Amino acid sequence: MTAEIISGKVVSEEIRGNIAREVQELASRGFRPGLAVILVGEDPASHVYVRNKEKACHDLGFYSEVHRLPDTASQEEVLEFVDRLNNQDNIHGILVQLPLPKHIDEKAVINAIAVEKDVDGFHPMNVGNLVVGDDSLLPCTPAGVIELIKRTGIQISGKHAVVIGRSNIVGKPVSLLLQRENATVTMCHSRTANMDQIARLADILVVAIGRANMIDASYVKPGAVVIDVGMNRLDNGKLAGDVDYESAKEVAGYITPVPGGVGPMTITMLMQNTLLASKRLNGIN
Ligand code: GUN
Repeated sequence: MTAEIISGKVVSEEIRGNIAREVQELASRGFRPGLAVILVGEDPASHVYVRNKEKACHDLGFYSEVHRLPDTASQEEVLEFVDRLNNQDNIHGILVQLPLPKHIDEKAVINAIAVEKDVDGFHPMNVGNLVVGDDSLLPCTPAGVIELIKRTGIQISGKHAVVIGRSNIVGKPVSLLLQRENATVTMCHSRTANMDQIARLADILVVAIGRANMIDASYVKPGAVVIDVGMNRLDNGKLAGDVDYESAKEVAGYITPVPGGVGPMTITMLMQNTLLASKRLNGIN
């Protein structure tokens, strides 16, 4: 049996439609959510990501500012920008595109972002709130992963979820969100022994290990939900996930493709976070 495809593109368009409608309704009351992005340096991939964020703001009716700084910008300059945006009333979300040039301390910059405007969910206060189960702005890709799992209609509660990869940006927060949904969660990583055997126990398998096509059918329990967060550029220029899609789809019950799976969800959840932050900052329900 071939797995049902979970299209991040379709889910994303649906959520964006809802966001656009809400933004329009707020606009009729004279209010507009605003996102500011700071991009330092010339990394081509980062420039593409930031252009896509700018486009999403435009398409959904958000106010946006993009501050493109040269890679010679000092840490003080970046911190000054963050401070100015923290105090700017028409900005409700601040995103500093990562990675930053080596001479800039990434943690210091993230820590400087106002917690209530941290729409990436990277500030230690938002991370801590997620750990203890308090309300917080959730990191975008992990929040998108949970949305996609929910779209299968499969109940997460009581299921065994295996997360492959323990990064701060994906693996760790995904595991916390799955626990919050009452899944039983096992974490695997690059040093895990017998990973295929552990993965085969998963009703829900989330893969964010950063190795192209590593997870083939031998890691997949028949009927499992397989979410591939990987995004690897192959030598032939093509994009590949961490899951060997062709093989895994013959065993899985549901599977996300790459591209068109988790990828489109990240910016959508960023826009959702910005809308949420703007409402909280202005006491709008
Ligand atoms: N670089 C790659 N992904 C991300 C992301 O989700 N947020 C930020 N700020 N930078 C990134």
